[in-house]
Amino acid sequence: RTILILNGPNLNLLGTREPEIYGAATLDDVEAECTALAGDLGLAVDFRQTNHEGDLVTWIQKARGTAAGIVINPAAYTHTSVAILDALSTYEGPVVEVHISNIHRREAFRHHSFVSSRADGVIAGCGTHGYLLALRQVAHLLG
Ligand code: DQA
Repeated sequence: RTILILNGPNLNLLGTREPEIYGAATLDDVEAECTALAGDLGLAVDFRQTNHEGDLVTWIQKARGTAAGIVINPAAYTHTSVAILDALSTYEGPVVEVHISNIHRREAFRHHSFVSSRADGVIAGCGTHGYLLALRQVAHLLG
């Protein structure tokens, strides 16, 4: 079983992007940690990043019937994208939303997430460790 781990805009710069907020780990580091944990859990991961909203929509559509679960950090699209919410609403498996930072402790425009109304769980403010927590939660939901 494969878990799709999706990352939105600017997360390709993780490690160099505002490290005081997002930490020192790169997205490659996060992918390596997720791949290792998934192995322990008997799962595979398909780990992706894009700066384009439509890529996320298309990847979520293609996850129907192929991915056992989705972990998603929609980044800035969290706060703007009805299209990503609608795509996730067509998906039948478990969805866990991740934010590296605690979006509720930041600017008011980051407090609302369109994605959360479809997410089975939301993890925020745990740094990049949140991806591992999300992966464990998806495994737990899959039983
Ligand atoms: C983020 C929080 C968003 O508000 C921001 O736009 C991001 C990253 C996070 O992981 O903390 O790009 O999703």
